[in-house]
Amino acid sequence: MTLLLNVAKSVPKAAFYKSLVRYPSSLADSGLKAEGEGPLVIVGSSRDLVHRVGTQVEVRTDFITEHEEAELLRELEPGLKKKRYEFDHWDDAIHGYRETERVMWGAACQTIIARVRSVAFASGSSLLGPVHVLDLDKAGYIKPHIDSVKFCGSTITGLSLLSDSVMRLVKNDAPSEWLDMLLPRRSLYILRDRARYDFTHEILKDEESLFNGQRVPRQRRIAVICRNLPA
Ligand code: OGA
Ligand code: MN
Repeated sequence: MTLLLNVAKSVPKAAFYKSLVRYPSSLADSGLKAEGEGPLVIVGSSRDLVHRVGTQVEVRTDFITEHEEAELLRELEPGLKKKRYEFDHWDDAIHGYRETERVMWGAACQTIIARVRSVAFASGSSLLGPVHVLDLDKAGYIKPHIDSVKFCGSTITGLSLLSDSVMRLVKNDAPSEWLDMLLPRRSLYILRDRARYDFTHEILKDEESLFNGQRVPRQRRIAVICRNLPA
């Protein structure tokens, strides 16, 4: 994957997370998301971090309908099914995946992509033309990485199809600072600015897929990802 940069972590993660007290423990404490009436979708290592970086991450639940999800799958499945999942590249940032890029979409899907771009990117921002489609096997996962600053700009946005999942952000130079984002099936996430440049992001593997202490079973998951270009 040319778009990705693997980031080695000096602190063994398992040990590290065990020593953390998860925060917040309830919606009422969450600060950032407590003001909305929506579900709790972002938790972090401190209230301060949730406040500071929480403004640069967004999860919009039910961004697409079941019908729209089916339209996207109908368009994407035939091409994806021709490929095999790749598991064996130990140095890859992604394990258990197949992927494609798409520039031209059918009318129904084009409308969905346009809606994604209109909420995620400032008008007038130059976009990466091809949409990245990443199909993770049930056993697949994405290791911590930062998308290439050479090829991608300040904003990354993605639709999640077929499965709920947990995206974890960890501050690159301070791994005690982290945010977990719950990405329900059919939600849209947006990473901007510091959240995109200063934090690694990853999608947890099924065995580790917990959000705020709650298990989030991982099925096969397809992400439809739009990016802008570097300034
Ligand atoms: C990527 C990535 C996240 C996702 O492909 O760089 O981080 O939602 N994908 O699949
Ligand atoms: Mn990425």
